[in-house]
Amino acid sequence: MKNIIVGQSGGPTAVINSSIAGVYKKAKELGYEHVYGMVHGIEGFLNEDIIDLDDYLNDDNNYELLKRTPSAFLGSCRYKLPKIEGNEETYEKIFNILEKWEIDCLLYTGGNDSMDTIKMLSDYAASHNKPQKFMGVPKTIDNDLPITDHCPGYGSAAKYIATSLKEIIRDNASFGKSRLTVCIVEIMGRHAGWLTAAASLAKDETCEGVDAIYLPETTFDLNKFLDNIKEMAKTKSSIVIAVSEGIQTSDGKFVCELGSDDRAVDAFGHKQLSGCAATLANIVQKETGLKTRAIEFSTLQRAATHLASLTDINEAEAVGMKAVEAATNGQTGMMITLERTNNNPYECTTNIYDIHNIANVEKKVPIEWINLETNQMTDEFLKYARPLIQGELTPIFKDGVPVHLIRK
Ligand code: F6P
Repeated sequence: MKNIIVGQSGGPTAVINSSIAGVYKKAKELGYEHVYGMVHGIEGFLNEDIIDLDDYLNDDNNYELLKRTPSAFLGSCRYKLPKIEGNEETYEKIFNILEKWEIDCLLYTGGNDSMDTIKMLSDYAASHNKPQKFMGVPKTIDNDLPITDHCPGYGSAAKYIATSLKEIIRDNASFGKSRLTVCIVEIMGRHAGWLTAAASLAKDETCEGVDAIYLPETTFDLNKFLDNIKEMAKTKSSIVIAVSEGIQTSDGKFVCELGSDDRAVDAFGHKQLSGCAATLANIVQKETGLKTRAIEFSTLQRAATHLASLTDINEAEAVGMKAVEAATNGQTGMMITLERTNNNPYECTTNIYDIHNIANVEKKVPIEWINLETNQMTDEFLKYARPLIQGELTPIFKDGVPVHLIRK
């Protein structure tokens, strides 16, 4: 047992760096000589763009700072490994680099697409008698990985969304009925509505909550949406609506494409979904004459480490630690999962699961957690999500702004 390497892939989260911290801590505890980091995931690894985490983390202050640093500290990528058959040279190159750097285990933090990388590498190792171990570390604000109860990154993004919506709802209610504004807030999550559903967490004794929530799990009916707004406008003095970036009309068209449909596509074939709130705000303004405002949370919701959930930070660190432990014990081609063992009080533990049943599979919000009018969440969802946003970890401030750890 000599060296271990970790990489980050896909869209960042507010806590993805806590998983890197967890990997480093456990690897050092278990006696690995070097804990390496891939710069920009497997794409950078192919160019041997590798750093030694000792250069950054062998001081407790930096370790704590890393847990409070947004984005992917190591740099991320959206790089799809080619299928093994016919592309052996790519895999030979990867295994040559692993051998050269004397790396026993490769860990990768990411979502569905990134887990595909671990699947491919462990499959290649199995069919070519290679000794290296490969382990997936879950991360995605989209919360759409199967098997695991939830994904590190989700709780913090959900906390940001709930908090920001509380603030938006207060602001939007400022002027009263004479200046009724329809505010449409767009939330990420691609084809799964977990993040948009978190808008329902804004409602409490000091907040009336959002007036409607539209998830990609149900078909978006533009006429019903407009009728609902017209009806609410008769009595309400503020209307705030949360929409997922991935909502689609019955003909399979993304709402964000109603304006134009020449969307950029990434290496995994995903269209860039944004502009849905702006499109709807324009339609509402035209059809009702009401004042509208469009807000796209965009990267803010996945970069808001200043408002991260402590539960999420701790779990992100725990999955990193567990991945090192499992790979060291000889496990490979697996992903770490979170298992909720109790909901009240909330208790959660880590486990491992075969990556072949996880990679490229999207877990959607259960339909029974959406109300019959398909525009609000049920209590079941609130019970599921509320524990995940608990706790805070105060940033370290300097000159009035949070300090971050960055690569030299
Ligand atoms: O997969 C995470 C995610 O943040 C999605 O919610 C979003 O659709 C996508 O990434 C955006 O990707 P990018 O930042 O590459 O445009």
